[in-house]
Amino acid sequence: MNSNSPIGIFDSGLGGLTVLRALRQLLPQENIIFVGDSARAPYGSRTPAEIKEYLAQFANYFKARGVKMAICACNTMTSHGIQFMREWDDFSLIPMNPAIIPAVKASPNKHIGVIATEATINKGMHRDAAKVIDPGIQVYGVACPKFVPLIEQGIVRGEEIEAAVKEYHEQFKGTDIHSLILGCTHYPIIQDALRKQFGPEVELINPAMETARHAMEVLTRKKLLHTKPEQGTLELLFSAPASNTAQMAKVILNIDVPTIGKVDLSNYTNTTEELM
Ligand code: DGL
Repeated sequence: MNSNSPIGIFDSGLGGLTVLRALRQLLPQENIIFVGDSARAPYGSRTPAEIKEYLAQFANYFKARGVKMAICACNTMTSHGIQFMREWDDFSLIPMNPAIIPAVKASPNKHIGVIATEATINKGMHRDAAKVIDPGIQVYGVACPKFVPLIEQGIVRGEEIEAAVKEYHEQFKGTDIHSLILGCTHYPIIQDALRKQFGPEVELINPAMETARHAMEVLTRKKLLHTKPEQGTLELLFSAPASNTAQMAKVILNIDVPTIGKVDLSNYTNTTEELM
């Protein structure tokens, strides 16, 4: 492993591409391997044991691929495996940033909203992170289980998305929030619908750039930034690529995407006992 080794980025599916987009903006020269576990998505309604098992499989997969770093572009896996997210001998494992600081900056009364998967909300990742920063912060979390299955099917606008957004928005009634953390990496893909429903008085906070900055800081500190100036390579792998995967990736990344490959993560069974 050296500075020219690739960076792994992973999620249950398409959502992680929103973090990939931020990382490519910040570090365009890096070679990236992206893996989306679309065969087993959504992770948000899975048990904690399943989520940890899948996270361990990703870690083993990226170890086998010789990456210098792997970014967990998934709040659900981050919330259940945060104790695992650190620097290993083989590579650093970077968690999703909860983005509490920008959310509080945008909300003078310290009332902040979070939308995320059921598993992330149940685990209370954002509430716990806010408590450490300032116990006076009020975190209102709403689980949005309808979003990921729609987005994975390529439904990112229209009646179904708008109805789901309206339903979840109603749960924020009376909370007086001024910022809303998109606590699932899939949600920036439907930010137009969210912005329309929540209106200009609620700032949408996408934690992707904070996460990418954390990755850059670690690479800089470890002297592992890619040294060549040209654009890095991109490998896109899914466990169950669908007919619309390439098109969705193209829209989310706003680039011509390479051919989508297939990967079977279940071959990378858990040898990372510490995680379980
Ligand atoms: N995109 C993921 C997250 O940030 C997982 C969504 C899912 O599979 O339910 O939580």
